[in-house]
Amino acid sequence: MNKTKSIVVAGLVAGLGLTACNSGSIRRNPGKTYAPDMVYSRAYDAYTANPNFADSQTSRPPVAGTIAMGHELPDHLVEGDTNAYKTYTTSLRFTDAQLDEGKRLFNIYCGICHGTNLDGQGPLYASGKFAAMPANFKDGKYLHMPVGQMYAAVKYGKNMMGSYASQLDTKQRWMVIAYIKKVQSANGGDAFAFGAAATDSAKVVAMATEPKADTKAEGKK
Ligand code: HEC
Repeated sequence: MNKTKSIVVAGLVAGLGLTACNSGSIRRNPGKTYAPDMVYSRAYDAYTANPNFADSQTSRPPVAGTIAMGHELPDHLVEGDTNAYKTYTTSLRFTDAQLDEGKRLFNIYCGICHGTNLDGQGPLYASGKFAAMPANFKDGKYLHMPVGQMYAAVKYGKNMMGSYASQLDTKQRWMVIAYIKKVQSANGGDAFAFGAAATDSAKVVAMATEPKADTKAEGKK
């Protein structure tokens, strides 16, 4: 028992001694670097100055016009060109799952004002904290609103409503609008066309972002 104790004590003392050697604010010896080629990058690090570019930045923006995979082409709408808004539309068609996603996004981003019932009575407005009446999508004024005009409202905002361009990408904006149009069609609006199988098949862009239920079966072949 005593022997064990003295070993422990000796160990502690030795440890303290070693720590003491390494104390002091100045470490004169930087130590050895194992595999320096790996420790010190020969390539320019992302945030280091780079003499190869006029702006000295190593991180480069994507080439102008680059479109991320799975994203839509730019829409070329010009803010304020309300005539263009009215005729602007999309050839995207949505599955039921995508309409559900549109509903989910609507409830997250729009429901607070427009209400999850789409009646303009969202909690923010109903509480009196937000003075401007949000659009009541079930009202005659909005029932037949062109989808492009809705798209413009989401992209650029409208009076007291801010832009949601940074929260929703192009496809998501259309999903939300398709959801609104679907609800409107059940409340006196135009027949719902977004989800309907289009007759002009050339116009239909398959919206298969998520694997469809039948992909599994195909994979088995
Ligand atoms: C902070 C509250 C608020 C939020 C959140 C909000 N809106 Fe609005 N929205 C408004 C108000 C207020 C108006 C009425 C603007 C006007 O006509 O002056 C409006 C109007 C609209 C209109 C009609 C545009 C027009 O041309 O008259 C559409 C379409 C619309 N919103 C869609 C959406 C969608 C889709 C979302 C979610 C992505 C959303 N809004 C989120 C407050 C909001």
